[in-house]
Amino acid sequence: LRQETEAALAEAGDVRAWDAVRVATLGKSGRLTGLLKELGKTPPEERRARGAALNALRDELSEAIEARGRALETAALEARLAAERVDVTLPVTEAPRGLIHPISRAAEEIVAIFATMGFSVAEGPDIETDWHNFGALNIPAHHPARADHDTFYLPPSPGLDVPRVLRTHTSPVQVRAMRTETPPIRIIVPGRTYRADHDATHSPMFHQCEGLVIGRDIHMGHLKGCLIDFLRAFFALPELPVRFRASYFPFTEPSMEIDIGCDRRTGILGEGSDWLEVLGSGMVHPRVLANAGLDPAEWQGFAFGMGIERLAMLKACIADLRAMYESDLRWLRHYGTSP
Ligand code: PHE
Repeated sequence: LRQETEAALAEAGDVRAWDAVRVATLGKSGRLTGLLKELGKTPPEERRARGAALNALRDELSEAIEARGRALETAALEARLAAERVDVTLPVTEAPRGLIHPISRAAEEIVAIFATMGFSVAEGPDIETDWHNFGALNIPAHHPARADHDTFYLPPSPGLDVPRVLRTHTSPVQVRAMRTETPPIRIIVPGRTYRADHDATHSPMFHQCEGLVIGRDIHMGHLKGCLIDFLRAFFALPELPVRFRASYFPFTEPSMEIDIGCDRRTGILGEGSDWLEVLGSGMVHPRVLANAGLDPAEWQGFAFGMGIERLAMLKACIADLRAMYESDLRWLRHYGTSP
């Protein structure tokens, strides 16, 4: 048995074969175990001597089996190390690296400028309730303004009886902020927005940046000063012409659209006109304040919203909106900025 086991061990070339030998010898129905079990049938006068001999053999064989096991493990480890060795002398293959995307860059710059004016960043969910996106903002169910928004409605989900949409603008975050924070409030809200619209100048997903200021004595002078300062800082043009034009948004009253002068002097490309619209704004409608739980007799404020793509395109002279989303590294190397 000793010789046979030793021969079998020597032949076992891997852990699996080794384990088979171990089980066949020392396992529950292994050969040595069998011999030990039969000890009881041995005549008593022989039993003692035979027992001692078998125990010695068991010690010897388990030692041999263990030794062979360790040897096989070491060999396996060495083979793995040899196979997985890294050749540090090979030339480095550099992974293609991008740059900061103009949309991210513009968002960062916008946030940084408003940060110097004391605004902090707020966020809200991309999937909004119809109420936050429309109702609370004074856009009730059959309001014509809903039609302009080309809304993506989400299918009703079981257990949730509120209709949900992909937010069509960042304005619902105004409502969330007014409901959760105690004024004064000064927030800037960059984020993704969605409208079912797709052509050279519209993408179904795009980015907006919302701003909201709420306080006791906030008036339109603050709105104007704040946004003129912002636009001149963003375009790095201290003399940039800025024009406020009366407009309409259901959630602000009065409402204004803001244009910047574009010509050879400012270097900003217009589409055949001298003025380019870049911002929507207005004094927060008293009904919106009330919907969000603020008393319009005590609190006033202004809000504004801008398209980040549009500002990024104007600043970096990017002509085609769609290229923004193509993840073309050549494009990014041209229009991107290093970190
Ligand atoms: N939410 C408006 C839009 O998407 C922009 C806006 C925001 C206008 C805040 C006024 C005040 O067009």
